[in-house]
Amino acid sequence: MRAVHLNLDQHSYSITIDQNILGNLGQWIKPETKSNKIAVITDEFVSKQYGDIVLKSLKDFKFDVRMIQVPPGEENKSLTWFSKIHDALIDHQMDRSSTLIAFGGGMIGDLSGFVAATFMRGISWIQVPTTLLAQVDASIGGKTAINHPKGKNMVGAFHQPSSVLIDVDTLHSLTKRDIVSGLVEIIKHGVIMDKPLFNLIEKNLAKILRIVPEVVIEIIAESCANKAYVVENDEKESGLRSTLNYGHTFAHALEVLTDYNTFRHGEAVAVGMNCAAQLSVNLGMLAPSELDRQNTLLQKAGLSIHIPRIQPQTFLEAMYLDKKANHGKLKLILIEGIGKVTTRTDIPDNEILKVLETCTAN
Ligand SMILES: NC(=O)c1ccc[n+]([C@@H]2O[C@H](COP(=O)([O-])OP(=O)(O)OC[C@H]3O[C@@H](n4cnc5c(N)ncnc54)[C@H](O)[C@@H]3O)[C@@H](O)[C@H]2O)c1
Ligand SMILES: [Zn+2]
Repeated sequence: MRAVHLNLDQHSYSITIDQNILGNLGQWIKPETKSNKIAVITDEFVSKQYGDIVLKSLKDFKFDVRMIQVPPGEENKSLTWFSKIHDALIDHQMDRSSTLIAFGGGMIGDLSGFVAATFMRGISWIQVPTTLLAQVDASIGGKTAINHPKGKNMVGAFHQPSSVLIDVDTLHSLTKRDIVSGLVEIIKHGVIMDKPLFNLIEKNLAKILRIVPEVVIEIIAESCANKAYVVENDEKESGLRSTLNYGHTFAHALEVLTDYNTFRHGEAVAVGMNCAAQLSVNLGMLAPSELDRQNTLLQKAGLSIHIPRIQPQTFLEAMYLDKKANHGKLKLILIEGIGKVTTRTDIPDNEILKVLETCTAN
């Protein structure tokens, strides 16, 4: 077992990473709850796999629990489901002392968190993330949101959970593609701020892909510790937190241009990391050997690092539409070495166009 603490002025909480948490969920959440009234928000896949074990454990600890199932899919991170969940919470006679549990991937986490932020002006909530992406990224830091027809995550709030419980056993029911996609965010943490973590992944890649618990617990814990450090020092993303967007301005453009149906998020980030590191080399900030090291690891994990055939000019325009482009300027997160990140807002368009051309598959 590993525990990571996230310390904020108003709110501190721990992130626990272990095996067999679901079977003991009642015991885990007991100290975090003010009353026995709780609701578990989950999706239909996750509840089918793990719903029974979770309900049994909660009932053993005398919780009065309602399970609310949302159909899987990003399109359900919506105002419609936000409203339906509120209806169900009222129907279950939840009040300000009740607790909400987000049990699923990042979609469930973001949606449930926003419900928790708004129900009765905010109730406490616990994250039980079940995808690798949610375990190392989405469940930590208190960003909650739903989508608006005009854009992803347009409506939301910062609302920190009171605890994050990560059961690595849930990773076994994910596909290899899901694991690799989540792994990209961990590799990203290594590249921007944690060389030892990068070394650890390089050394143990095969074990990680086989989900050997000891190794997976360690890389998730290190990754969570990095994200916790960033959130502690910049909760509302005024500076440091934006370095987590390494590769993401490129990735978001790629996701938009392929209608979100070609790349998993992590797959798009891998391409973006290649672009960002290549740009760092072109600007003379990064040794080519460091670019190779990053890309070799991504490719060994089975990822493609190249942009499919998209006109660089079209790609650049999509980058400018990303919400991270501030006051018409692109804010790019670049690296000076594995573990050393920097932010630049002065990169001329022709340098970006050049890198887009270099990184396009031929
Ligand atoms: N709040 C944040 O800081 C933050 C950060 C990154 C991403 N996000 C959000 O996270 C979401 C993406 O999260 P995701 O990648 O976890 O996707 P997801 O939540 O949509 O889950 C992907 C699929 O995996 C299934 N699933 C979940 N757990 C499973 C398991 N253990 N076994 C088998 N199948 C399982 C789900 O049913 C779903 O079909 C996006 O909405 C994104 O905006 C939020
Ligand atoms: Zn990401």
